[in-house]
Amino acid sequence: MHISQLPPFPENFLWGASTSAYQTEGAWNEDGKGPSVIDARESYPEGTCDYTVATDTYHHVEEDVALFAELGLKTYRFSIAWTRIIPDGDGAENPAGIAFYHRLIDELNKYGIEPLVTMYHFDLPAALDQKGGWGNRATVDAFERFAKILFREYGSKVKRWLTINEQNMMILHGDALGTTKLRGLAAKKDLYQQNHNMFVAQAKAMIACHEMLDDALIGPAPNIAPVYPATESPEDVVTADNWWAIRNWLYLDLAVRGEYNGIAWAYLKERGWEPTIEDGDMDLMKAAQPDFIAFNYYNSQTVAAIAEDEDINDGSGDQQIAWGEKGLYKAVKNSHLEMTSFGWGIDPHGFRTVMRQIWFRYQLPMILTENGLGEFDTLTDDGRVHDDYRIEYLSKHIEQIQYALADGVQMFGYCPWSAIDLVSTHQGVAKRYGFIYVDRTDTDLKSLARIKKDSFFWYQQVIANNALPESVSVEAGTKA
Ligand code: BG6
Repeated sequence: MHISQLPPFPENFLWGASTSAYQTEGAWNEDGKGPSVIDARESYPEGTCDYTVATDTYHHVEEDVALFAELGLKTYRFSIAWTRIIPDGDGAENPAGIAFYHRLIDELNKYGIEPLVTMYHFDLPAALDQKGGWGNRATVDAFERFAKILFREYGSKVKRWLTINEQNMMILHGDALGTTKLRGLAAKKDLYQQNHNMFVAQAKAMIACHEMLDDALIGPAPNIAPVYPATESPEDVVTADNWWAIRNWLYLDLAVRGEYNGIAWAYLKERGWEPTIEDGDMDLMKAAQPDFIAFNYYNSQTVAAIAEDEDINDGSGDQQIAWGEKGLYKAVKNSHLEMTSFGWGIDPHGFRTVMRQIWFRYQLPMILTENGLGEFDTLTDDGRVHDDYRIEYLSKHIEQIQYALADGVQMFGYCPWSAIDLVSTHQGVAKRYGFIYVDRTDTDLKSLARIKKDSFFWYQQVIANNALPESVSVEAGTKA
C-alpha cells in the first residue's frame, strides 16, 4: 500500500535511548550492593569481559547525563539493580544503593529528561536464586516488596515504569543471557512455572503502582518479533501463528488481558508443562491493568512446519536466533534480509508489522524500548567513530514508525539501544550499540573516556527537528 505523505511525529514524541543496570554500571560490589545472578556467573563466552566494570556509568553519572542532555534526549530508559536496593533480594534495604538512583533521577530531571525506569532487567539477586529463584513463590513476594520500595522512594520523581524486561527471552533463551542454568526441553516444565510466577509478580507490581501513585503509568516490556511463514503452505502459516502465540502473545496476553491464550495453553498442556496456578492468580492478573505497552524489537523470525518425529538442534540460540523446537517449528533463513556482523537479520518492515499487530490486538499506546545495531565500531585516528551503518539502520526503523502512525497506530516514543556503549548480554563490549563510545575493550579497561559517535550528532538532529533528515530516503534504502 503506497502512502504518499507520511504523518509527522507527534509534538510530544518521546525520543529516548535505553540501557540496563548490569550492562553499564560496573561497581558490582560497591556501596553495599549484593551479587546478582549475572555477578554469580562462573564463566563467560570466550573472549568476552565480565560485568564488574562494564562501562562504569556508576562513577560517571553527571558526565553521562550531561551528554544525554546534549544529545537532546526527552527520556532515558535505565534499570534499577534490585541488589543495590536490597542486596539479598528480600532482606534489609541498602540506603547507599537507594541514594544512587535518587542522584541519577535528580540529575535527569534537572535537564528535563524524563526517567523511564525498568524495575528488573535480567539481574535477579543471587541470594534469591539460591533459594529457588522464580520457581519459589517467595520470590513473587520479594519482587512486590522491591516494587513498593521503588514506588515509595522514586514515585514522586518518575512517571513511567516498566515491570520486567524481556520475560520471554529469560524463559526462551535464559541460558544464553546468563539468567538461568536450566537447559533443553527437560527444563521447560520448571521454566514455565517460573514464567507463571513472574506474571503474578508483574501483576502485583502493576496493582501496587496504581494504588500507591496517583499519576504513574506502568507497562510490560517483552521482546516482540513478527513471525513469517517460510512458504505459502497452510501448514507453515499455522506454524507461524503458533510461534506468534507462544513467543509473543503469551507474554502480552497475561500482562494485558490476564489470560493464557488457547494456543499457548494447548502447547503447555500437551507437553505436561502447564504451571501450577494458585487460587486467586488469574483474578489478580485480570485486575492488574497496564497503561501502555513497551516492547523491544530487533528482528523477525521465519518458520516452517516440522514433522512430528523430526529431530532438531533445539539449542537455545539467543534473543534473535532460534533454531526451532521439536514438535513445534523449524527456523528458516530469510533470504530477503541482510544480516548484522553478529548474525541478526535486519528487518525494518518487521518493526511496522509488530507495531500494527500489537496495536490492533490490545489498543494500548506503545513505546519502543529497544532497537539498535550491535557492531564492531572503530575509533579512528581523528578521534571519531564513523558509524554510518548505525545511522542507516536507525533511520530505516524510525521511518517505519511514521508508516505505523499512518496506519493509525499509537506510538508515543522510541528508545533505541543504547544510549551509551555497554557490555552485550553474551558477546562482550566489542559488540557496541551506543551513541556514545566508551574507550575500553574486552581485555583492557583503558581510559573509559566518552566519545560522541557520528550517530550521536545525527540523532541530536532527529530529536531537535522531531523528524528524520530529508536527505535520507530510507524506504528506498538509499541516501540521497
Ligand atoms: C535485549 C536485551 O534482548 O537485547 C538487552 O534486553 C540486550 O539487555 C539487547 O543487550 C541486545 O542483545 P545483545 O545480546 O547483543 O546484548
